[in-house]
Amino acid sequence: MPGLNDKQLEACCITDGPLLILAGAGSGKTRVITHRIAYLIDEMSVNPYNILAITFTNKAAAEMRERVDNLVGFGAESVWVSTFHSMCVRILRKHIDKIGGTSSFTIYDASEQKTVVKEVLKYLQLDPKLYPERAMLSAISKAKEGYMTPDDYEKAHAASGKAT
Ligand SMILES: Nc1ncnc2c1ncn2[C@@H]1O[C@H](COP(=O)(O)OP(=O)(O)OP(=O)(O)O)[C@@H](O)[C@H]1O
Ligand SMILES: [Mg+2]
Repeated sequence: MPGLNDKQLEACCITDGPLLILAGAGSGKTRVITHRIAYLIDEMSVNPYNILAITFTNKAAAEMRERVDNLVGFGAESVWVSTFHSMCVRILRKHIDKIGGTSSFTIYDASEQKTVVKEVLKYLQLDPKLYPERAMLSAISKAKEGYMTPDDYEKAHAASGKAT
């Protein structure tokens, strides 16, 4: 691999099992990752379709995409370069039928979630002082973490009538 120093080259070519790279800002981490992708495809015969490069921000994903496209020739477009969020949405849209949803779902951000809870409280004529949005959202989130369906939740809380 041209254009890598000894340590970068070492990190680029260890492909057997997980590898954690810790290095300072601007020291060439992304360069190592993009070269690793090229190495996996060109030298290790990995199908580009089986490579996933994850970033936190859209900006970082765009930068990674561009650098992978410039470095990897044939098959670059099959490498999946994505943020955590867009990867999860793509998987959900493709397979949501398995958990009984439709692929045309919308994802609400924090303020949209608050708005909808406010509307629900109004519809149910519940006093927002007794049922603050934040507590409602946190109860919903907790129920989801416990894999509770709305039916499960209703059953579990029907007796007490409390949303905890
Ligand atoms: N061995 C090298 N030879 C030549 N140029 C290099 C080398 N390593 C890194 N660079 C260059 O240094 C710059 C910074 O590298 P890179 O973007 O990969 O670093 P980074 O650690 O990902 O940075 P950041 O912390 O900002 O994400 C880039 O222009 C890259 O091409
Ligand atoms: Mg980087």
